[in-house]
Amino acid sequence: MSTDDESGRGQGRGRGRPTGPAAPDEPPHTPAAPAPGNPGPDAPRPNTPDPDAPPPDAVTCRALRYAFGETRAVDGVDLSVRTGEVFGLLGPNGAGKTTAIRCITTLLPVPAGMVRVFGHDAARERMAVRRLLGYVPQQLSADAGLTGRENVALFARVFDVARRERAARVSQALAAVGLTEAAGRLAKTYSGGMIRRLELAQALVSAPRLLMLDEPTIGLDPIARTSVWEHINAVRAATGMTVLVTTHYMEEADQYCDRLALMHHGRIRALGTPDELRSALRARRRAAARPPAVSPAPSASTSTPAAPSSPPSVPVRPSDTEPTLEDVFRDVAGSGLDEQSGDFRDVRSTRRTAHRVG
Ligand SMILES: Nc1ncnc2c1ncn2[C@@H]1O[C@H](COP(=O)(O)OP(=O)(O)OP(=O)(O)O)[C@@H](O)[C@H]1O
Ligand SMILES: [Mg+2]
Repeated sequence: MSTDDESGRGQGRGRGRPTGPAAPDEPPHTPAAPAPGNPGPDAPRPNTPDPDAPPPDAVTCRALRYAFGETRAVDGVDLSVRTGEVFGLLGPNGAGKTTAIRCITTLLPVPAGMVRVFGHDAARERMAVRRLLGYVPQQLSADAGLTGRENVALFARVFDVARRERAARVSQALAAVGLTEAAGRLAKTYSGGMIRRLELAQALVSAPRLLMLDEPTIGLDPIARTSVWEHINAVRAATGMTVLVTTHYMEEADQYCDRLALMHHGRIRALGTPDELRSALRARRRAAARPPAVSPAPSASTSTPAAPSSPPSVPVRPSDTEPTLEDVFRDVAGSGLDEQSGDFRDVRSTRRTAHRVG
């Protein structure tokens, strides 16, 4: 596994300007707690930021739970996404990734547990959170009957980009994803890769500090996938934007994500850099391959009846090949993966962006 520098990951650490995600179900604005009255010079001032305090993580989830009726989609998730990193949330179909993402975006409420985005409570400061986010949902968010430019302009309005800045910001967002030339064409004439880049432009037009992408490259060919990631990384290099992404592509997670969380049945089952996850599996395999400790043979004079002879132990050989992330995933998710969720490759080959465009 390569380091950030070798892999091209971790490019660009800086600042982006905050704004909000798509908000079709915009909730009423719950204002933050009012500033305290004049507390006097020596009184603690809880709302004054400590200049020496480390910056808050981009996302913090503690004991997050969300259920659809009897289905516990998110079942106690603890997660921290550090500012500036690319964090990958992986998991089979139905693991709870989209539900968790939607709780973080405030599109779903936080019925139990806690979610913070750059220190803002997603349950109580929803608008503040939304202003910090860009969100590319799993489902299609572009309107096929509008041009590329009109689609992005619509998002600029929805996300409250200042009127005088809108035209420039729309053009910047389209340029950032390489769609300047095609901006005047209807989205329904775009290829799947262009649609995904258009959705990226929609999310970027508000210059988010945190970009959340739910399967941004599903169904795209390798060149289109690389293109989407190159555009994301170029914006990161320029702004220092944090990225939280879900994907079924293990190699993509390996190449572009600084850290990964493996989610299964609503819970985080493993977390670390791709290297750490592979090393941990290697260590587990080695431990499993060690012969069990041999207990001393019973003495001939013992009156204890001899234990039934056990079959000779067959040492488990460690795999000769280095574990892949997919091996890690299978190890973490266990045998239920195939029965309940299908293989990753099946999933991605059966879902096509073209279907989403309709
Ligand atoms: N609107 C809904 N109503 C009822 N159940 C839902 C709803 N959305 C999701 N679920 C259920 O919640 C669980 C988690 O679904 P979720 O979409 O979060 O998984 P996911 O990890 O994003 O899966 P995928 O990889 O297929 O996108 C699943 O059991 C799913 O069937
Ligand atoms: Mg999903």
